[in-house]
Amino acid sequence: MACVAVLVPGLVGGSLGAICMRAASSRLTRSTLRHLTLTSTMKSKRKTDHLERTASVVRREVVAVAKVCGTASESPSVKSLRLLVADKDFSFKAGQWIDFFIPGVSVVGGFSMCSSPRLLEQERMIELAVKHTNHPPALWVHNECTLDSEVAVRVGGEFFFDPQPTDAPRNLVLIAGGVGINPLLSILRYSADLHREWANKRSGYEIGTIKLFYSAKNTSELLFKKNILDLVSEFPEKIACSLHVTKQTTQISAELRPYITEGRITEEEIKDHISNETLFYICGPPPMTDFFSKQLENSCVPKEHIFFEKWW
Ligand SMILES: *[C@@H]1O[C@H](CO)[C@@H](O)[C@H](O)[C@H]1NC(C)=O
Ligand SMILES: *[C@@H]1O[C@H](CO)[C@@H](O)[C@H](O)[C@H]1NC(C)=O
Repeated sequence: MACVAVLVPGLVGGSLGAICMRAASSRLTRSTLRHLTLTSTMKSKRKTDHLERTASVVRREVVAVAKVCGTASESPSVKSLRLLVADKDFSFKAGQWIDFFIPGVSVVGGFSMCSSPRLLEQERMIELAVKHTNHPPALWVHNECTLDSEVAVRVGGEFFFDPQPTDAPRNLVLIAGGVGINPLLSILRYSADLHREWANKRSGYEIGTIKLFYSAKNTSELLFKKNILDLVSEFPEKIACSLHVTKQTTQISAELRPYITEGRITEEEIKDHISNETLFYICGPPPMTDFFSKQLENSCVPKEHIFFEKWW
């Protein structure tokens, strides 16, 4: 076992934690390891830094190597990555994020998975969609990352949907703003996987209904819309969506028009879905997340049924 001392601000009991890389991680190339150590021992001064923002959030201990094996442009400003994570000790729950360690980049990124945990179990793949910003990890993804680039990843976060097979079906309302769709898409895809498994075997967790509210600037910034609409048409009795655009300047295509509302998601729309049996997951810019979580609390939704993640 190779042991690497890294600075982990989030670990209980202080800032210096020793992370033991399991034998499986010996695939790490020498240079990735060196860079990982360097990267992780540098502390960012930025206030909006992912590590500082999430310093108190629980992380798993596995740091795994991930290899880029596909990239795609999802919108004018968003690039998606498919990463192969061979280490079987690496797993995540739908909705969680990863610390993203890039060789030679001193700032650690934080990106939510948008893929289902089933894709990892079956193909050892995870998917991320990263918006172009001046934050060094996002710049690296957009400008330098290529096929076969290697990074290291570690799972964290308390925003997830992880029903157990014996749990009663729960309805979900997912509210996404912009790239906040990522963890909610992971939850939606995972729910669809659970439903397929349940429909095939009549065992496992039986999902309730899922309603996705998703707002973006315009139709080209509505990420994964085809995938979302495919899930809606595959499971019309289970999955529904309401897509919103707030700054559309061009005409909406005839194909998309039936699904799109111009203007933001309103509290009235959400109110129609309030019940004590429903779980609410909200991810978007802080003002939006605050607005809807307050609205729900004011409508007597128990706090423990409201989950939110603020995304920048
Ligand atoms: C949406 O906004 C982006 C960024 O401003 C722009 O590049 C794109 O052309 C717009 N797309 C549509 C369909 O209006
Ligand atoms: C949920 O149940 C609690 C306790 O029974 C109740 O006080 C509250 O009003 C209910 N909320 C909704 C939205 O039905």
